[in-house]
Amino acid sequence: MKGRDIISILDLSRKELLNIFKLASEIEDAPNVYRDELRGHVLALLFFEPSTRTMYSFQTAMARLGGYSLVFSDTSKTSIAKGETLGDTIRMFDGYADAIVIRHKIEGAAKYAADIAEAPVINAGDGTHHHPTQAIIDLYTIWKYRRRLEGLNIGVLGDLKYGRASTSFIYGVSLFKPNKLFLISPTELRLKEEVKSDLDKFGLDYIETTDLEGVIKDLDILYVTRIQKERFPDPAEYERVKGSYVVNMDLLRSARETLMVMHPLPRVDEISTDVDSSRYAYYFKQAKCGVPIRMAILKLIIKG
Ligand code: NCD
Repeated sequence: MKGRDIISILDLSRKELLNIFKLASEIEDAPNVYRDELRGHVLALLFFEPSTRTMYSFQTAMARLGGYSLVFSDTSKTSIAKGETLGDTIRMFDGYADAIVIRHKIEGAAKYAADIAEAPVINAGDGTHHHPTQAIIDLYTIWKYRRRLEGLNIGVLGDLKYGRASTSFIYGVSLFKPNKLFLISPTELRLKEEVKSDLDKFGLDYIETTDLEGVIKDLDILYVTRIQKERFPDPAEYERVKGSYVVNMDLLRSARETLMVMHPLPRVDEISTDVDSSRYAYYFKQAKCGVPIRMAILKLIIKG
């Protein structure tokens, strides 16, 4: 994988994903073996949109591999405030770093950066489009705690229209032949047509529903997402759909004992905090998997 860009999770094969999982698991078992793996290497983290987990887990991953990160997350302190273009900014960091991680509100920004840069580019979120490394973390969490990804009943809940994490997760799931895929959302926030037509092309069956209570008992995985307030062109539309679903212990009474409730985080109010201490809560474990997975990805694309 040396030198590879990761713009969409579909840039990776099932086999490559399983290799990443195996390496991440080895890193979790023996982190000290890898502590000098990227010594002398530099990673550029270019965040044009807010981030907590993605930015700091990449930074942590690079530090735990012995490498260094150049971070910018406040464009007002860079030459972008003087009118420098995205293309020129990428050219600069391409000259400084061994790999570039970029998050931007414009769909296609990461692909644009990858076309310019010689260094490998990782998409850390481009608008409502893709967020591949989040999906790799999500799949790894299932692989780690369930020991399999095939044949599961998977529900994806919330803002499927604007959510890039959910879109990438759904594309990722499509590589592992789920038993049933339930897309649960208000009608206004259904998965985009172009993503559905990709799923049709892959021959993946899915069921669209608004009825969370109706499907909860069938699920092995419930992937919950935040309604993406910042993406709504019309605030009145957000007001109509906000708070559409709340996952709480009442709802989970009819769930399978082994149900995993996941969430890419940040959560607002879509999972009530009473779930946090229950057997169903996997979202903080999932966030923790961000470090070994990003360590594995950085090692593989920088060093091979
Ligand atoms: C997600 C994102 O930025 O798309 N966050 C993340 O990276 N874990 C999800 C979200 O913001 O809702």
